[in-house]
Amino acid sequence: MSNSRRTFAIISHPDAGKTTLTEKLLLQGGAIHLAGEVKARGQARRARSDWMKIEQQRGISVTSSVMTFERTDANGETVTFNLLDTPGHEDFSEDTYRTLTAVDSAIMVIDAAKGIEPQTRKLFEVCRLRSVPIITFINKVDREGRACFDLLDEVADMLALDVCPMSWPVGMGGLFQGIYDIETGKVSRPEGPSKEFLGTIEENVTLPEEVAEEMELAQAGYPDFDIEAYRAGDLTPVYFGSALKNFGVAELIEAISQYAPPPRPQPTDDGPVAPEDKEVSGFIFKVQANMDPMHRDRIAFMRLASGTFKRGMKLTPSGLGKPIAIHSPIMFFAQDREIADTAEPGDIIGIPNHGTLRVGDTLSEKNKIRFTGLPNFAPEILRRVALKDPTKTKQLRKALDDLSEEGVIQVFYPEIGAQWIVGVVGQLQLEVLISRLEAEYKVEAVLESSPFDTARWLKGTDKAIDDFAEFNKMNLARDRDGDPVFMARSAWDVGYQQERNPELTFSATKER
Ligand code: G4P
Repeated sequence: MSNSRRTFAIISHPDAGKTTLTEKLLLQGGAIHLAGEVKARGQARRARSDWMKIEQQRGISVTSSVMTFERTDANGETVTFNLLDTPGHEDFSEDTYRTLTAVDSAIMVIDAAKGIEPQTRKLFEVCRLRSVPIITFINKVDREGRACFDLLDEVADMLALDVCPMSWPVGMGGLFQGIYDIETGKVSRPEGPSKEFLGTIEENVTLPEEVAEEMELAQAGYPDFDIEAYRAGDLTPVYFGSALKNFGVAELIEAISQYAPPPRPQPTDDGPVAPEDKEVSGFIFKVQANMDPMHRDRIAFMRLASGTFKRGMKLTPSGLGKPIAIHSPIMFFAQDREIADTAEPGDIIGIPNHGTLRVGDTLSEKNKIRFTGLPNFAPEILRRVALKDPTKTKQLRKALDDLSEEGVIQVFYPEIGAQWIVGVVGQLQLEVLISRLEAEYKVEAVLESSPFDTARWLKGTDKAIDDFAEFNKMNLARDRDGDPVFMARSAWDVGYQQERNPELTFSATKER
């Protein structure tokens, strides 16, 4: 059963067309009936919570969610797609990184006019780090874009990947006529001038001379498609298309069902766990609090790694140590949420809870395994949090703990003094922090500059850490889990201390 799952994410630069493509994928899957519903749903969701005002003001999406849909593929088999939405904004990279730990493959969307932008490249590198194979979709070919060869070479050069064009636009921009499928030699063309065309007709047409020439060059110049190379992350198949005009989307979804890997074994500290293993296990890659401010609820998103999950089942979260019964697991369909009776490896279920489940937790029947590989990243901006009303210390601590658990910020409690420090990867996270402190915790706070420039998690024997702490109390803090962190005044400081304390590791990431 489990090999009928395709759990994937779309990575892109903001504006490349991710939302439009998501809508069209859901349409193809029959999951939604009208384009525009993804956005409409987004607005309804936004209206629920005050802090999401920032999203509206900035016109960006800061939350990520899951969309499940089914489709019968060319071989008549039903495939279940779990599309994990990642926020497109660079400032939310941490959240995005964690989401990428829960997928088996990704689609990289590139705007034909713009090529690869730095953020997309960063996301790509995370995919590579995690051996997540990538299908490339060059979008907006209905607009004037850069030459196909330039785009392909850019993907190959910037990402150090083999590229294999699977399709080719017949004309670009105003001359765009359709997509040529290299394997079958068929051209799909829009049926008339309709902007929201929802299907393709396949017919043999004579290619314009120029396109025929390009095809010859492309076939000679790029390697053939090789599924093993793709799955190993060495090659990316490239599709051209237009999300807006629903062009090349059917081919893309077919490529995911045909080529993208089914759920793969997940790493634990004691070797990988295969999806076929009988024991039910999974890990939490995201926690979202206050989705409904009236109920102070909290949804932990779990990726099922092995076994068949059944509603009501008892699983033990590694962070808690005692089993909990999961009575109301949620599955997220394009338009609805439903209570899930069963789930298979690769599926994502939402588990409502009151703070017992945390990002990085393993849930399992026997409580023996621990999934690894969900990192925390060293913050690039550190700020001191000062309260406007000093009697609110307790609320502030609770809020900082909660929000760091969600991955909105990281928090550091210095060993000496009461100057709590928050760390973020991007400026926008600070705005979200202040806004959510007010809206959800009724805490008014301001952020002040901090004497520290960066933070490093200390790893080593207890003795080595104690020895270090004795001389560096002023620069030592604890994170939310109580783990020791060296607060550095500069990058030079990190290098200096590392040299003087070779028995310690000063780590820029922390595995949760
Ligand atoms: P994002 O989620 O990656 O940020 O991108 P989104 O889908 O919102 O698309 C960004 C803009 O690009 C939108 O235009 C969208 O209509 C347009 N777009 C997406 N795919 C295509 C395509 O294949 N061809 C063309 N020509 N345009 C495309 P907008 O004007 O910013 O928004 P809207 O007013 O259309 O909603």
